[in-house]
Amino acid sequence: MMDKNDEKPVLMQQTEARTSTPDLQVPTASCLIEGYPEPCEIIIVGASGDLTSRKLIPALYNLFLRHVLPKPFLIIGCSRTNMGDLEFRNKLKEALSNEDDLNLSQWDSFASLLHYCPIQYDEPTTYEDLNDRLHELDRQYHTGGNRIFYLAIPPDLYKPTAKMLGQAGLSAERRNGEGWSRIVVEKPFGRDLNTAIDLDRSLHEYYEEHQIFRIDHYLAKETVQNILMFRFANAIFEPLWNRRYIDHVNITAAESIGVEHRAGYYEQAGVIRDMFQNHMMQLLALTAMEPPSLFEANRVRDEKVKVYRALRPFPVDSLQDHLILGQYGAGTIDGKRVPAYRDEQGVSMDSLTPTFAMMKIYMDNWRWQGVPFFLTSGKRLGGKITEIAIQFKEVPHSMFRQTLGEHITANRLILGIYPEEKITLTFQTKNPGARVCLRSVTMDFQYSQSYTGPILEAYEKVLLDCMLGDHMLFWRQDGVELCWAFLTPILEKCETCGDRAEMLLPYDSGTWGPLEARTLKTTNAERRAV
Ligand SMILES: NC(=O)c1ccc[n+]([C@@H]2O[C@H](COP(=O)([O-])OP(=O)(O)OC[C@H]3O[C@@H](n4cnc5c(N)ncnc54)[C@H](OP(=O)(O)O)[C@@H]3O)[C@@H](O)[C@H]2O)c1
Repeated sequence: MMDKNDEKPVLMQQTEARTSTPDLQVPTASCLIEGYPEPCEIIIVGASGDLTSRKLIPALYNLFLRHVLPKPFLIIGCSRTNMGDLEFRNKLKEALSNEDDLNLSQWDSFASLLHYCPIQYDEPTTYEDLNDRLHELDRQYHTGGNRIFYLAIPPDLYKPTAKMLGQAGLSAERRNGEGWSRIVVEKPFGRDLNTAIDLDRSLHEYYEEHQIFRIDHYLAKETVQNILMFRFANAIFEPLWNRRYIDHVNITAAESIGVEHRAGYYEQAGVIRDMFQNHMMQLLALTAMEPPSLFEANRVRDEKVKVYRALRPFPVDSLQDHLILGQYGAGTIDGKRVPAYRDEQGVSMDSLTPTFAMMKIYMDNWRWQGVPFFLTSGKRLGGKITEIAIQFKEVPHSMFRQTLGEHITANRLILGIYPEEKITLTFQTKNPGARVCLRSVTMDFQYSQSYTGPILEAYEKVLLDCMLGDHMLFWRQDGVELCWAFLTPILEKCETCGDRAEMLLPYDSGTWGPLEARTLKTTNAERRAV
């Protein structure tokens, strides 16, 4: 029988027994960075915004504290807001002083790296002014003309801004004293296949592929990177990592927060564009890909792309059998009442935007034929949890059937990404005593337990990689397009079908999504057990 626990992500379903690892005394600082980046400047376009003050500047400040920023290094903020260097510095200091875990004792030294140059996104002369200012700063600080342009602006400004930068000569490399020029594009990269292709064409008018960094900060989380190490640096798991031993795979990214201040964006996006096109697809690729011949950006990305190519086209004519969509209602989270999605500020009273999705997908290849992958993500769920759970098959024959019956709980391996970065393996042991009784125990490895050195936060890692020119953790355009090619028919069907409202199932905030999601999950082993 399916138990009540099944509605929770598998992380919440473990037994009490645990084992632990000793402190492994891992070497610390030597693992933090591979070589130092060349002198450069980062130009943040949209520097008056939320991403800049909440993510980018704290990440750059932390890199400064760890002494891993290049020398010399400059940060130039650009946006429409009219302000000078001093005002920009003070504004950021004020924003960062709300961050509990930041020690601002070295802020003044860091602040001297910060400069500001106002621009109008559609006004060519302001980009020429920016160009002049950058040359002046290059001369003054000897940054070698190496530049990273970080687009921290609303997505509909990516195209015109990249064009303006290109027209002002700011995408040019290694000419007239310029060094390299890179452009970082935030998610979302398009809102469907056509817009993604269109955006890419515009970028390629002025930038070559090696200059473009399509960011997905999820990929830079230590545990996400560790999936590849776990799979391909250990000989014992890979022989089991296939349809012969694995019953199904759950990939879950649950959030307890609601739409917060991003209703304008979220109403247009919904959960599939917000989470599936990028983070969920990346987690899927890392779980399902073949071993690359070398740990090198293009070879790793080649293998990911093969996973996307193998995705079985989604059966859009029988959506209900493969997709559950939901929208949160009011409920209780951490003891506090929270409003329904439709009552959030900026959300339409009759919004049909999904805040929860569970998708059952298959891959048509030798390794994964017949193994369902359940991808689940949603807002206002019972907790913030990100994990990949590999559910192995049951033993083929139970020698304990006379005492225990046929059913023995199968092994489960969990790669936990959040809240704890950990790996757990659940297996069966005998309970002490004269009677044959089995119990599930969980062997537990927590990254924090065996490592006491510094860890780079995701935005710190991607910014550093961008300075180093390492594309390993960034999307390549073919991957973006293949994911959109898979998801666009689903989005089109969901957004145009006549029974759109019926497809959207309500769930209370603080639960694990619509109850119907459980039936979608009834797979091979569970069907046998029911
Ligand atoms: N915030 C996050 O946590 C987060 C996470 C992942 C990805 N992203 C992506 O990162 C990008 C930036 O996000 P954000 O949250 O920082 O955005 P934001 O605060 O809404 O906007 C950034 C800046 O862009 C300018 N801007 C905003 N709306 C504009 C408009 N309609 N026309 C012209 N300029 C406008 C504003 O600067 P001025 O008015 O001064 O020009 C604003 O300070 C977005 O593409 C977002 O999808 C954000």
